Amino acid sequence: MSELVHIPQHKLPAPGSRSIVREAGLCLALFHVDGKLYAIDDSCPHAGGSLVMGLLEDMQVRCPAHGLKFDIRTGCMPYGGGMRVRSYPVTVVDGQTFVSLHQTPECKTGRLGAF
Ligand code: FES
Repeated sequence: MSELVHIPQHKLPAPGSRSIVREAGLCLALFHVDGKLYAIDDSCPHAGGSLVMGLLEDMQVRCPAHGLKFDIRTGCMPYGGGMRVRSYPVTVVDGQTFVSLHQTPECKTGRLGAF
């Protein structure tokens, strides 16, 4: 698998919105906040709730299933919870949008929980 996954233009969320994107075996929740795109795995590491459906406040999405919160920039839980959803850097090259499969830095106290 390539280290960059292309996200087709028609699958990108409108400003202030979010979308679910299935590409290259991934199921991503994309959020378009303040002109920037953020990508995380859609599946909550707790029990698989769909994070794209969650309430977004202050860059934290609340899982609609049981309420755990994850920062959409890092995938980490606020206050150092024990789980983390994978996040993916988003880049734009020549007008085309890609998510990078490079591992994001570890949370200070969290661990990856969805792999
Ligand atoms: S499935 Fe997300 S908090 Fe339980």
